[in-house]
Amino acid sequence: MRSVVSFNESWSFHEGFGQRLLEGFDGAATVSLPHTAVELPFNYFDEKSYQRAFTYQKILRWMPEFEGREVSLVFDAAMADAVVYLNGDEIIAHKDGYTPFEARLTGRLVIGDNLVTVKIDGSENPAIPPFGGRIDYLTYAGIYRDVWLKVTDPISVANLKIETHNVQAEEKSASVRIDLANPQQLTFLGSVSASLKDGDGRVLATVSAETTGENPTLVFDGLTGISLWDIDDPALYEITVELKTSHGSDRVSSNFGFRTAEFTTEGFLLNGRPLKLRGLNRHQAFPYVGYAAGRSAQERDADIMKSVLKCNIVRTSHYPQSKWFLDRCDRIGLLVFEEIPGWQHIGDEEWQQESIRNVRRMIERDWNHPSIIIWGVRINESQDSHDFYVETNRLARELDHTRQTGGVRYITDSELLEDVYTMNDFILGNEELPGNNRPRTALRPQQESTGLSYKVPYMITEFGGHMYPTKIYDQEARQAEHVRRHLEVLNAAYGDPDIAGAIGWCMFDYNTHKDFGSGDRICYHGVMDMFREPKFAAYVYASQCDPSDEVVMKPVTFWARGERNIGGVLPLIILTNCDEIELRYGSLTKRIGPDRENYPYLPHPPIVLDHRHFTADELGTWGLEWIDGEFTGYIAGEPVASMTLAADPLPTTLQVVADSTTLKARERDATRVIIRTLDQMGQRLPFMNDNVTVQVDGPARIVGPASIPLQGGTAGFWLEATGLTGTIGVQANSSRFPAVKIELTAV
Ligand code: GAL
Repeated sequence: MRSVVSFNESWSFHEGFGQRLLEGFDGAATVSLPHTAVELPFNYFDEKSYQRAFTYQKILRWMPEFEGREVSLVFDAAMADAVVYLNGDEIIAHKDGYTPFEARLTGRLVIGDNLVTVKIDGSENPAIPPFGGRIDYLTYAGIYRDVWLKVTDPISVANLKIETHNVQAEEKSASVRIDLANPQQLTFLGSVSASLKDGDGRVLATVSAETTGENPTLVFDGLTGISLWDIDDPALYEITVELKTSHGSDRVSSNFGFRTAEFTTEGFLLNGRPLKLRGLNRHQAFPYVGYAAGRSAQERDADIMKSVLKCNIVRTSHYPQSKWFLDRCDRIGLLVFEEIPGWQHIGDEEWQQESIRNVRRMIERDWNHPSIIIWGVRINESQDSHDFYVETNRLARELDHTRQTGGVRYITDSELLEDVYTMNDFILGNEELPGNNRPRTALRPQQESTGLSYKVPYMITEFGGHMYPTKIYDQEARQAEHVRRHLEVLNAAYGDPDIAGAIGWCMFDYNTHKDFGSGDRICYHGVMDMFREPKFAAYVYASQCDPSDEVVMKPVTFWARGERNIGGVLPLIILTNCDEIELRYGSLTKRIGPDRENYPYLPHPPIVLDHRHFTADELGTWGLEWIDGEFTGYIAGEPVASMTLAADPLPTTLQVVADSTTLKARERDATRVIIRTLDQMGQRLPFMNDNVTVQVDGPARIVGPASIPLQGGTAGFWLEATGLTGTIGVQANSSRFPAVKIELTAV
């Protein structure tokens, strides 16, 4: 039987790399994984600071259970160029920062202490994708995902490949191919058996077969009463495989789902049902620690996409992301577009071979995830490259014929070697683009993009972004325009049956190179800030959900007489899924329905109050008294939401909220904590930029600095368990509010 245990604790960490570190353990600075080599400030830093070599070391003591068995270390990922040594000898080198690799230690371990040394080179080595050109994101150095100590019998299961068949029929089937690992090339007699369980752990069927070397495939036929995996009901099943050979045994499980996913010329079909895709791009980056956020933070991002932003798809721009993130997408019903690492630049022949290997690593790691519906097998936004992309597509199809391929481009008339033409269309609403005379109501018709005389499956994979960077504390008029642009593209995508859907750029602001962003090393392209706190544009997405899921009513205003040019708050966009909104402003009462004139195709068009509903004097005049605005949302004539925006907002509450109040101590679990300054009506104070200092008692630490400036009336941090159990007290102090204390528990 296998044992796979965390190997995250007690690494010693060093700047640079040298012979000295290969020869002996230097336990000066101890860290645990996931780990970032250089903790960065929030903004304004030199991204070269981590683009160099670092060393991690750890002692692996011989254990009797190693005897006669396979022993390895599994690295879920390390950025960017990793070399693993055991007792000074090189074991494996891995030239990709996003996929797992396994260092086989069998036969090299000595009785007693063994020195594991890992050299990480964070340089932007042009031999490794995505490097060689410029990239609009950072690739923070470090062993930034988990590491596992894996011990198995000499013959074990290397991977499972699960496929489902006849998914739309009453009787379904599933097959599992069992890829065996037999590094010592032993001859053996063996048998495999597989059991299929439903989400409650009930065994539905078992099958078995003999094997003597080849990778066996087991089939479950005639399955009835199976629930499909869908976005509203992501039914997961599990296959557990048991291997018994003359050299021992193994047991491995994988989740999967029964579903079909197909991009057609008429749009996307999930389980045969049309579904307009609505989503956002996600980088796997966090403030200060870059990529080095563990399981909970990864899972939470998926939850935010699904339950806060109400998206049905995420694109893992521009690389394979954490398995914790993808597992969560499976569990909550969030579709995924996953792609290989790269950004515009295509390197030489060897670079391309490495990229082709990335296709294999990505697909072999992730083929069982029901959430993944398409493989991105082009370098994001690269030019055409016939031979290279013929091969990435061929390999993707050979490895996984159940999913279609895409390849993200921004060029028109690009050679279509993929199944889906996936296009970054930045054109809508962007008067800034030279020669763009297009009306603000339509995206490029697909045939204008593809240059083809016939229709193909087609999806928008980016829009917005650098066309209209917007900060959480930007002026109201700019935020309203940011909102309008997201609304317009979604509306156009909903209105064009030739478009499967649209994935906006992007979920949250992210750190980047000096060649991009606002000069402070941030691209303010998110509908949320770096702490995942929503800007107004976040509610464009949120408000598209059905009110039975959540009633959304978000007026895009700070409600002030003089924040906008000339004054007033018109036109006032209210992002909502209500049928009507009533605004009471003193003796004035207006009840207005959705703006179907300008946003005819959105499931829930915003309600827009403008000159059609008010005379200039009624709300706008400079010099009149400014009073509270009272908003009530109605569905089917009944009031379902209400909100008052204060004419005289005053600092009333310092709100401190943790996503989770329990942390798993041993896993060094982390939770996000958001701080907000609120007025007497519970609204964020958008220009409260005071400082908050955070004090932590008990077994946890703040990730990043303890003194935090509010931006747009809000700030955040991640709180990480330090390993022990007990009560954690978090106190936020500021000059404007009494101190606020919350309690968490490390268990
Ligand atoms: C795209 C690119 C993204 C990001 C975005 C900003 O061209 O694919 O990674 O840079 O622009 O709008």
